Amino acid sequence: MRRIPLLSSVIDVGCGLLKDAGARIRELEPRAKKAFLLTDRNCARYARTVRSGLQAAGMEVEILAIAPGESQKKPASAARIYDRLARAGIERQSAFVAVGGGVVTDLGAFAASTWMRGIPLFLVPTTLLAQVDAAIGGKTGVNLPQGKNLVGTFYQPLGVFCDPEVFRTLPAREYVGGLGEVVKYGVIRDAELFPFLEKNIEAIRERKPDTLEEIVFRCASIKADVVSKDEKESGLRAILNYGHTIGHGLEAAGGYRKLHHGEAVSVGMEAAAVIAMDMGLTPLETLAAQNRLLKLCGLPTRVKGLPPRKVLEAMRLDKKNSDGRFRFVLPEAVGRVRFGVEVPAELVVSGLRAVSV
Ligand SMILES: NC(=O)c1ccc[n+]([C@@H]2O[C@H](COP(=O)([O-])OP(=O)(O)OC[C@H]3O[C@@H](n4cnc5c(N)ncnc54)[C@H](O)[C@@H]3O)[C@@H](O)[C@H]2O)c1
Ligand SMILES: [Zn+2]
Repeated sequence: MRRIPLLSSVIDVGCGLLKDAGARIRELEPRAKKAFLLTDRNCARYARTVRSGLQAAGMEVEILAIAPGESQKKPASAARIYDRLARAGIERQSAFVAVGGGVVTDLGAFAASTWMRGIPLFLVPTTLLAQVDAAIGGKTGVNLPQGKNLVGTFYQPLGVFCDPEVFRTLPAREYVGGLGEVVKYGVIRDAELFPFLEKNIEAIRERKPDTLEEIVFRCASIKADVVSKDEKESGLRAILNYGHTIGHGLEAAGGYRKLHHGEAVSVGMEAAAVIAMDMGLTPLETLAAQNRLLKLCGLPTRVKGLPPRKVLEAMRLDKKNSDGRFRFVLPEAVGRVRFGVEVPAELVVSGLRAVSV
């Protein structure tokens, strides 16, 4: 087991950690007599393991298992949670534990941060994306019909427990999508992650927990380091959006059904590397190395049936580009990026053409 400190929280990464989560929560919040456990139905088995640990540590546990899916990340779900928290008598010193993917950790963290102005929060992320990204950094939120994550808070959990053994049951597309974010960390900050991933590609395909522990540890450490330098996203934190400027446009243009988030980020990174090359910021080798690794991971680098102009329109509607300018995170080399680079619309379109079939 390895521990990453981040502001007021600790992030523990280790195989088999799930069954120790209860004891660790007790250690970090010794006063808690009650725990509220939020999960979704696909993660209920993991929630039960965590519940046993909490009970063994002497806590009374209330579980709520919501339906899975992004559509549950809404204010009405938070309201339903508040109702259950009230009925269960969850108070300031109780523990709120979210066991699931990014939907459960974002929604649960939002509810915990607002219930009685914030109660002790613990996250047990169960997707690759949630272990390397969503559960780290303290952003919480729910979606509105007007846009994703429009309502939310910054709220650091006390503990995050990442157990790579849970990936065993993850649907293939969710797992591979998570690898898109993993490759992202390599490009933005960790050149050595590239050869590590290439060398271990078989173990990655087989979801070997030891290999995944190393990967989660490295990626979570990078995110923690970036967040600790810029918690509220006034500068450096933007580098975490590498591949996302175009990625979000692709997701939106596809009506959020065509591409998994990680797939969109993968194509978005390919396009960003093309743009960086066109602007003379990086050599062809960067694009080639990234393209090779994305393909090895089973990720797409091209997209079908999304015309570049349509994607550009979707990008213009994104609140991050609201002033009509496109600011990109662009690679200079594997392991090093520049952020806040303004890219003219014509270059965005030619980057999109390069990834369209
Ligand atoms: N807060 C942040 O900083 C941050 C960062 C990135 C993403 N996010 C958010 O994360 C969300 C996406 O997270 P996600 O990709 O984890 O999606 P998700 O929570 O919807 O999980 C994906 C699917 O896998 C299932 N699942 C989860 N763990 C499983 C397991 N171990 N075995 C079998 N099935 C399992 C879920 O039930 C769901 O059907 C989005 O809402 C996004 O906005 C937040
Ligand atoms: Zn992402």
